[in-house]
Amino acid sequence: MEVLSITGGQHLFGTVRVTGAKNSVLKLMAAALLAQGTTTLTEVPDILDVEIMAELLRRLGCEVDHDGPARRVSITVPEILAHRADYDLVRRMRASICVLGPLLARCGAADVALPGGDNIGSRGLDMHIAGLRKLGAEVTNEHGYLIASTQQRLTGGSIWLDFPSVGATETILMAAVTANGVTVIENAAREPEIVDICQMLINMGASIDGAGTSTLTIEGVEQLEPVAHCTVSDRIVAGTWAVAATMTQGDVTVLNANPAHLESALDKLVSAGAQLSRVDGGFRVVMDNRPLAVDVVTLPYPGFPTDLQPQFIALNAIASGAALVTENLFEARFRFVQELARLGADVRTDGHHALVRGRAHLSGAPVEATDIRAGAGLVLAGLVADGTTTIYGVSHLDRGYADFVPALNGLGARIERIEAESLFT
Ligand code: EPU
Repeated sequence: MEVLSITGGQHLFGTVRVTGAKNSVLKLMAAALLAQGTTTLTEVPDILDVEIMAELLRRLGCEVDHDGPARRVSITVPEILAHRADYDLVRRMRASICVLGPLLARCGAADVALPGGDNIGSRGLDMHIAGLRKLGAEVTNEHGYLIASTQQRLTGGSIWLDFPSVGATETILMAAVTANGVTVIENAAREPEIVDICQMLINMGASIDGAGTSTLTIEGVEQLEPVAHCTVSDRIVAGTWAVAATMTQGDVTVLNANPAHLESALDKLVSAGAQLSRVDGGFRVVMDNRPLAVDVVTLPYPGFPTDLQPQFIALNAIASGAALVTENLFEARFRFVQELARLGADVRTDGHHALVRGRAHLSGAPVEATDIRAGAGLVLAGLVADGTTTIYGVSHLDRGYADFVPALNGLGARIERIEAESLFT
């Protein structure tokens, strides 16, 4: 087992480049299933989740060539696909559920293992299911699998989402692009990753209106064609670097990043005292003081992203003052504060709220990452803690942050990946 060992106290300086978004590329890979032939995706992050999705697509009958260092994936989709996503892969990556819509559209059937809850919450699928039923599919839950089927081509319909769910919007969108007639999704998610998949589907020949707004209108077409598509850059990774620069009182330029996708978070960093400027292809964050505490409320885009909430709790843990952090998306996302407390952070949680009282110092300790973003929050805390912080559960970070350790070292951090056993020898 490997762990990360961080010696805190370094200011981060330099330039870092962000690749494509995990939360986009996995859906783009699933969308490739909609067209027979070879789809190529670029700016693909070299992370574990891409490899898991590649394996899932291979089992469905695709040829997948994943070139990690070149940041490219080519997916060759056969005329006839298998339509079952097994539990052994779905349990490793919840996002596997995103093959449900495309498989149903392409094969008229999809058997996808139920992913269940995870370390950040219960993760319902009711809106995915209700949406597919509105398009004419039969959906049942049998022996731990969602079994979706349709005797004929899906039919367009009007769907109102109770909540602008990213996953449900994507499932319905991918099922609707080749349905018979017009589908309207009201209260649709507006995330940049939704705009990215709409853009790819439009290039494949789909007719979609309203990407990036709350109303998506999709006119079904007979067939889609494979394309080459460049993945939108990862706003959460870019935001993580921005918080790292602020917490370590550094000066970091983040390239291949779109600050317009991060406005709510970057605005908070300015309130915390950071100086932010746009540069060609990205932005720069300069900080020369201890940050001020900032309140945060997570909301669907364009609100403050839940995927940056743990990083901002880490920031508030060393800030001057106290902050109230409200989590509205994932009820268990505060679990990680118990780990942060091992570094000396003063955080009290009550339901959706966390009260963080900033401390002048954190002190290094062994901690466990329980999900990707909790892991990022702990790394950031370790960067400013006195002494050594050892982070267990590194595989979570591998799921979302490509080349994190070399990039951090390149900015002047002191972090290494070591075998846990060597800690005791
Ligand atoms: N929800 C339901 N029923 C549904 C769908 C969602 O109750 O049918 C609930 C969920 O349980 C959750 C909330 O609605 O409480 C938000 O879920 P949403 O569907 O918007 O999120 P998701 O598609 O499951 C994606 C990202 C998450 C990110 C959220 C919100 C991927 C693979 N995951 O999840 O990313 O936090 O959108 O932006 O795209 C991460 O990267 O660490 C991560 C968790």
